[in-house]
Amino acid sequence: MMNFDGNKEEDGSIVESSKGFLKVVIMIFVSVQMIRILTAILKFSTQKRNQTPFPQIPFFVPSPHWLYGHMDHIGNLKGHEMLVMTYADPQSSISTFWGLSKPMLSVLKAQHVRNVLRYSPHRKMLPLLGRHFENLLGKKSVVILTGNEWTNARKIATHAMMQGAMIHNTDILGRILKRIVRKLTTRIRNEPTSSNHHPRCVQMDIRQITNAISFETFGMCALGRDFGSSASHRPLGGNDDCFQAFQYLLEDLHLRAYEQPWNIVHYFRWIPLPRNRNVHDAKRTLTYIISESVNRESPKASFSANGSKSNQKPAAQILYELGLRDDDLQDMLLSFWIGGYGTTSVTMTYMFYMVALYPEIQTECVLEIWRLAQKKEKRDYWTALDKHLPYCHAVLLETLRLFPAGSNTSRNLSRELHIPERNITFEKGSRVFLSFWCIHRYEGNFHRPLEFLPQRWVRQVVPTDDDDAENKTWVERSPNDLNSERESTLRTDCPPADKQNLFSFSYGKRHCVGEKFAIRELLMAMVYILPKFHLETVEGYCLTPEKRGILQGPQGSVPILFRERTPSDS
Ligand code: HEM
Repeated sequence: MMNFDGNKEEDGSIVESSKGFLKVVIMIFVSVQMIRILTAILKFSTQKRNQTPFPQIPFFVPSPHWLYGHMDHIGNLKGHEMLVMTYADPQSSISTFWGLSKPMLSVLKAQHVRNVLRYSPHRKMLPLLGRHFENLLGKKSVVILTGNEWTNARKIATHAMMQGAMIHNTDILGRILKRIVRKLTTRIRNEPTSSNHHPRCVQMDIRQITNAISFETFGMCALGRDFGSSASHRPLGGNDDCFQAFQYLLEDLHLRAYEQPWNIVHYFRWIPLPRNRNVHDAKRTLTYIISESVNRESPKASFSANGSKSNQKPAAQILYELGLRDDDLQDMLLSFWIGGYGTTSVTMTYMFYMVALYPEIQTECVLEIWRLAQKKEKRDYWTALDKHLPYCHAVLLETLRLFPAGSNTSRNLSRELHIPERNITFEKGSRVFLSFWCIHRYEGNFHRPLEFLPQRWVRQVVPTDDDDAENKTWVERSPNDLNSERESTLRTDCPPADKQNLFSFSYGKRHCVGEKFAIRELLMAMVYILPKFHLETVEGYCLTPEKRGILQGPQGSVPILFRERTPSDS
């Protein structure tokens, strides 16, 4: 018995001492790891302070943050200007800086930008940033994929865009826009007359209107689903769950990736924090909407119920017919949604704001639309609106130039990049940051870059008979068109712009897959809205662009005064 008790005591102390030993080992191990991490950070931070991002290249942005380099500048437009313009080499326009721990270079001259985009379609996301994008868009998103996986996904995306409702969208868009016009007309007519504004007009946040148009368009053309935010009984501005979920996810990306890249908690989405739960719920709402729209049993039946014609299959159905299922299908549709909704609504907001700001430009657009409407021959003008409405198209191009919704992109060089002005060559694999915002505001690419000048894209053909004002037309200008005496007197003269220097939809193999679709949507919005309403800016309001997440757009709401047009407006 004694012996037995004694053994127990001995066993107990052995267990205790081995536990203690284990604790010490763990503590030593953790301390060693901590020291290693701290040394690595210290080494990395001193390296960053003492080294230029690319050895032997003296054009670099000073004072990188010890942990995230110049990452915070990438997240805002003023920061872009500092990274890309302030410290750029005046001769070659290149600058170099740190994106987190990775050296990056930036180019401004259009010819260098084209060289990068033409030969280098791939980008590796910065290590931590990539996780946030992947969480939002999905691992199989065409926006994220690289290599052969991207090539295959891109083929499918292009096919889906070029078929069905994404491209044959004119009746769907027409229906949405008519609903919006009806709704606005009712709002204006119900508005009590005031002594300040006669005839009746109503102040609206134009973002609510452009959000509704763009959201509805995506719903109908991509999902075959009517979100109904333009329907007469619903308030404009997307108050439904789906819209809220979408906005929440975009805001969340901005916070995690750009506003607080240093916040370690944001990288662990499994921690049961309210933000993580909200993101999870928002993502579930969107994936539910998408999967509900794709009726796996009988996709055709599901879409025809929403009134789409047979040649106007929504993208979801085309993708399904191409064999995409589950995550592949979800991720592709979410990429279309994220790639197409915000970009189009932001551009439309700027476009309407600019025509409200410049009444003479607005009048010229309306006259051009009226002239087209009066044409006797019955032709399908919708499919090539940019050709039939060159002036309106010029207004759109100028909007896209000054306010590119996708303000930046990046690439990893697939081949060397030579900068002849300095005889410098950047190696294959180098990371290039392209700020379209700055590229379009760089004097070397566009004359008087900060001015809104549609006539840099078009010139007026002056009728031989001066009284024949009805027949005056606008034609696209070529870059070497310097025929200034035939130029319009509408705002001041300006040399022609080169379309090749415009990168709002990017360039090369990875350019925007929805470009044609977006241009048609934006021009149709002009055609339906401008002849019906006179748009005016609100006194004292000044639009401020800001970058939020992947896009830039106006900060806060954008008030515009809407008044019904009368024949005297012409
Ligand atoms: C005014 C409207 C739009 C603008 C300014 C715009 C701009 C852009 C830009 C700058 C890119 C980046 C390309 C790059 O990294 O080089 C892009 C990519 C993309 N856009 Fe658009 N976009 C617009 C509308 C749309 C629409 C309507 C859709 C689809 C419905 C769409 C879908 C996409 C997709 C899927 C990509 C990724 C392409 C890839 O990585 O291969 N976009 N867009």
